[in-house]
Order: sequence, then structure tokens, then C-alpha cells
Amino acid sequence: MKHRNHAVPLSENKHLLRWVDKMAELTKPAAIHWVDGSEEERDRLYAEMVASGTLIKLNQKLWPGCYYARSDAADVARVEDRTFICSLSRDSAGPTNNWEDPYVMRRKLKTLFRGCMQGRTMYVLPFSMGPVGSPMSQIGVQLTDSPYVVVSMRIMTRIGMPVFKLIDRDEKRVVPCMHSVGAPLVNGKKDVPWPCNKEKYIVHFPEAREIWSYGSGYGGNALLGKKCFALRIASNMARDEGWMAEHMLVAGVESPDGEKTYVAAAFPSACGKTNFAMMIPPKGFEGWKVLTVGDDIAWIRPDKDGRLRAINPEAGFFGVAPGTSKKTNPNAMATLSRNSIFTNVALTPDGGVWWEGMTDEPPAECLDWQGNRWTPEIAKQTGAKAAHPNARFTAPASQCPTIDPAWEDPNGVPIGAIIFGGRRASTIPLVYQAFNWSAGVYMGATMGSEMTAAATGTVGKVRRDPMAMLPFCGYHMGDYFRHWIKMQRTLSVTPRLFHVNWFRKDAEGQFLWPGFRDNMRVLKWIVDRVHGRTHGQETPIGWTPQYSDIDWKGLDFPKQKFEELQNVDRAAWKSEVIGHEELFIVLHDHLPPEMIYERELLICRL
Ligand code: OXD
Ligand code: MN
Repeated sequence: MKHRNHAVPLSENKHLLRWVDKMAELTKPAAIHWVDGSEEERDRLYAEMVASGTLIKLNQKLWPGCYYARSDAADVARVEDRTFICSLSRDSAGPTNNWEDPYVMRRKLKTLFRGCMQGRTMYVLPFSMGPVGSPMSQIGVQLTDSPYVVVSMRIMTRIGMPVFKLIDRDEKRVVPCMHSVGAPLVNGKKDVPWPCNKEKYIVHFPEAREIWSYGSGYGGNALLGKKCFALRIASNMARDEGWMAEHMLVAGVESPDGEKTYVAAAFPSACGKTNFAMMIPPKGFEGWKVLTVGDDIAWIRPDKDGRLRAINPEAGFFGVAPGTSKKTNPNAMATLSRNSIFTNVALTPDGGVWWEGMTDEPPAECLDWQGNRWTPEIAKQTGAKAAHPNARFTAPASQCPTIDPAWEDPNGVPIGAIIFGGRRASTIPLVYQAFNWSAGVYMGATMGSEMTAAATGTVGKVRRDPMAMLPFCGYHMGDYFRHWIKMQRTLSVTPRLFHVNWFRKDAEGQFLWPGFRDNMRVLKWIVDRVHGRTHGQETPIGWTPQYSDIDWKGLDFPKQKFEELQNVDRAAWKSEVIGHEELFIVLHDHLPPEMIYERELLICRL
């Protein structure tokens, strides 16, 4: 087969050609590669990365099409403290984002990027967030000096020729995404398997709709379609254009008689969105199905009938590996069984991968995520983990056994319910429903969760994470709440809003709820509420199910334990409301009045 000469531009779009020239002039790459997205190109990139030591080809009998990467030990998660929203005014970014004057930041970036790609290839990677050509999709071009990013983006988004064709039609604004690992190969410097830089900058220019990322090759720092574009930049587009860009999974619940209800759910990073989106109903729910549209991001827009419809802008799953197993999420395990990239998990002697929680029995030995020998005995003595807690799989969504037939519908799927959730050991019941839209917005706005390893920070500390968007909203959080409130006026059918907490513990510190498949019981109550078929009991915080409203078929769950799970402790809730103030005070001058009214009503009811 004749190889394409990738140095030849694959687009005729003058703006794109000019920008690529300008950026090459700035960063001085040794070569330019226009990414066509073909399988031949993918195979060549994989082969080159295996040769350079960036990737290890896994045992192809066990893991067909799969590759393994170990990152630099200091480049393992999103760096929220190095993430900037450079709007023209500090006030537009709001107090929950790091802000820098765009002129100052542009000057800084120019210095950082000057010559930063020397000795490397600059890839010109066109991508579509959402199905190519869908009216709900957006397009971007990422310039990157990381081939790992190219093959990862190939799984996570739609890339290559069809996107260049769209760009050449010049009908849609293209979001320029500049990325470098910040490790030029100068003065005979030898490359390393995971090049990166101690200094990291993840920068967004919301007005210019532009992204610059420097110094990291990991996940959301480097796969710029994901958090940077699909959430931080898209939340700005959505506010301006009357839609919503949310950190939500989307799943369809199908009843035995074929009724389909789609829900969107916002849980903070590493709180089980992937598991929920791929849930297998428990014993007693024969004939029920949960079908997967997306596991991380939803773009939601009112259709011409005033109903919210959602697409998944991504094409793959970038899931947390530890804890994922045939027991906890067999659909994820099937999805990642081929054509996937594993980063920072452990490597087994037979050329496979392993992570904590994948099997009951750990392997007798393996190499950990840093390449050191690991055995269960060593782990016992030193506490060393085989896989990094934020180790990830990058897997094509199309391989998911439960992928919804409508997951690529260009018009999206209709949303019946929006579910908020966090990781909370106390106070918050298993499930409750907001009285109405604005009470639901308050519920989402005051969401709290114990922090996880998905970002650098103190694991376990409760932080307010409104709509799971604290690290991802690209403008002032108070204005974001206002946008949510305003959305209702554009709707003729409003989705019902719920809150769930799978993580409540008893006095002994044991989880009260089994979670995983049994979450289907909660989901069924939610679906029944959407269709007005079941009872809800009024409490100070919203409507809750009684024991008899939940379908317990196949599970022996004591009524008294359920009541403990659902308990609304008024004293604890009063402290909770004080906790809400923590963020509201910070957002004060942009907080919509509805949030104050809802808080007052809640206090009255308590
Ligand atoms: C993610 C995250 O990677 O939220 O999805 O950190
Ligand atoms: Mn996420």
C-alpha cells in the first residue's frame, strides 16, 4: 500500500493553513503531519511509539489492538491549579476559576511555546465533538507534538478526513487547540517515553474560543476535546447560544414493554458515572435494560417542541481503571477488551494489564505503573499500588455492549430526568426529587462531594461541586446558575430533577447501600416519577420514595435500613445549609435571586 505523504496539507481552508504556518513558525517542529484518521496511519503511529518506548504493545492474543503507556510520575491527573480561564475581565471568569489577563497570558504562552516542538513532529489533528455534521456538534483542530494524544483523540473523538472536509466548507467556527508537552529535543537531547514539563499551563480564552495547553500529556490536560473544549469552552458557547454543556452521563432506561426514558446524570469525577451509564439491572429486573449514550459529557439543547435533547460529544470512554471489574462493570470490561489504550495501570508478565479491583486475586507479580516490580507481599509491606489511583483506559464507545442504538443520532435523545449526585458519607439521602426546576437548580448548585484522585488535591475532603462543574465551568459560576434558571423559560416540557447518594454510611462506617446494579431500583423510581406513575412523599428537601415505592424484587433489604438511608435529619440539614453558604458567599454578586429564595424556603421547611 502506498503511504500518504502526511506533510502535504489535507485542507484548503486558508485560515487553517495560515494558523498552522504561524504556529509552526512559533514552535519550530522538525516535521508537520496532517492527520487523516486512517487505520494505516494509526498503525504507523503505534509502531513508532512502540519503537520509541512510549507504548508497549500488549499480548495481542489476550488484548487485541491494545497498548500500554506509563506516564511521567509527576503527570498523572488534571492540574486544576494550573488551569486558567483568561476572559477579558476577571469578573467573567468568576472567583472559582484561576484568571489571568489574556494579554499577559498570551505573552507568557508565546515565550513557553517558542521553539517548544523542536526535534518533534507537529500533528494537525482535526476533530468533531459529536457526530460529524450533526447540528449539535462542534469542530476543533488540535496542533500537538504528542503522538499519544493523536491515537487517544482518535478513540475519544471523530477525527480525520471527514472533519477536514467540513472545515473546507467553512460553515462552522473551528476552535483552535494548541498543545505541547513542552519538551523540545535540542542540543542532542534524547527523548524519554513520556515527555512533559514541570511547568504546566492549561489555558482557555473563552471570548476567542481558543485553548492553549503546555507541559502535560495526560488526560484532560492534553486531550483537548474533552474538558477544555466540550466543557470549558462549550459552556461559554452554550450560555451565549441557549444550550447546556454539562459534566453528565446520558443513559436510556428501557422497560420490558419497550418504553424508553433517557436520563442525564452529573456526578463529580471518579464517582461512578461510567458504572451508572453501563449498569446491568439486578436480579428481579428481567426485561429491563440500561443503554449507554455517554459516560462523561452531555450537550443538551431544546428542540423545536421545547424538549431537551442530548448528544454525547465524545466517541470513547476515558474511564478510571481501578475498581473496574467483571463484577462492578462487565460492560466496561467488554468495551476495553480490545482496541484500547491503558495508562498507568500495571503490566502482567504475560503481556496483559491489571489494576486494583480488577480481579479478586491479584497477579503473583507484575510491574507497577512506574515499571517497578510489584507483588501482593510488597503491597502489604509498603502499601504500594500496582496501578495509579487515576490510571485510565481509553476505549471506543462503539464497542460497548450496551451502546444505545440512538447514541449517534445527530438530533440527540430526549431527556426525561436530570440526576445530581455526590459522594457523601452522611446527611444526604439515597434519593430525593426536587419540588420543581428552580428547587432542582438549587439542589445541583449546592451539591457537595468528597474529593477523589481524578484531580490533584486532598482526597476525602467535602467540596462544593455545583452540577459537578466546579473544575469545568468556563465562566462565572453564579452566571452559570442564572443560565440554568433561564433555560426553563425555553422549555415546554421540563425534565424532573433528582439527587442521589450511593455512599451514605452507618454509624460503624459501613456503606448502607449496595450500589452498582441495585442502583437500578432507584433509577426505576426516578423513571416512574418522570411518567407520574409512582408516589413521592413530601419532606423538607423534596419528594422521597417510601419503602413500598421501591421495587425490591430479588433483594432482601430491611425496611429499617432503607429508612436510615432516606432519613432527613433536620439538625444535620441545617449545618448542610450553612455549608451551602460557603460557595454562595464567594459567588455573591452574581448569584441569581432564585438561589437565595430557594435557600430561604428550604430553611423554612427545616
Ligand atoms: C474525567 C474527569 O476524566 O472528570 O472525566 O476527571
Ligand atoms: Mn469527567
